[in-house]
Amino acid sequence: MAILPILFFDNPVLRQKAKRVPVIDDSIQRLIDDMIETMRAAPAGGLAAPQVGVPLRVIVVVLPGEEPFALINPEVVRKSGEREVMEACLCLPRYAGEIKRSAKVTVKGLDRRGREVRIRGEELMAQALEHEIDHLNGILYIDHLESMEKLFKVEAGAEPPEI
Ligand code: NI
Repeated sequence: MAILPILFFDNPVLRQKAKRVPVIDDSIQRLIDDMIETMRAAPAGGLAAPQVGVPLRVIVVVLPGEEPFALINPEVVRKSGEREVMEACLCLPRYAGEIKRSAKVTVKGLDRRGREVRIRGEELMAQALEHEIDHLNGILYIDHLESMEKLFKVEAGAEPPEI
């Protein structure tokens, strides 16, 4: 496993629509292992493959006290409600923004063994899933800011975790 370098927010890879993974082979397993290690080292609550320069539809998520998991080709199939959240991203260190996210989402995708899974998330989990799936579509949280007044500079290490 390896800790991968994280792209800075103006890197064009972060603005591409990532490609679907056709086959979950050894290279995808290695990518997932490296992404989990990179997410833990950051530390962060989630990471999407484009953030480490890989334009494929793979995300990893971990909530405090839980096991990390990967989703391949994830799609939001249902969302409801709205809440204001503070959000940050590893690609934009020392900033945090106040944006709106869904209160609940349902996401379907494949787990790392290729089994179809459906995940229903609320609050932090919903936010993490929306944030990471946004990355796969070339969207950053700053795109959701209603105004630049909702973007805040914060001390190094004081950012809310990317979630
Ligand atoms: Ni991010």
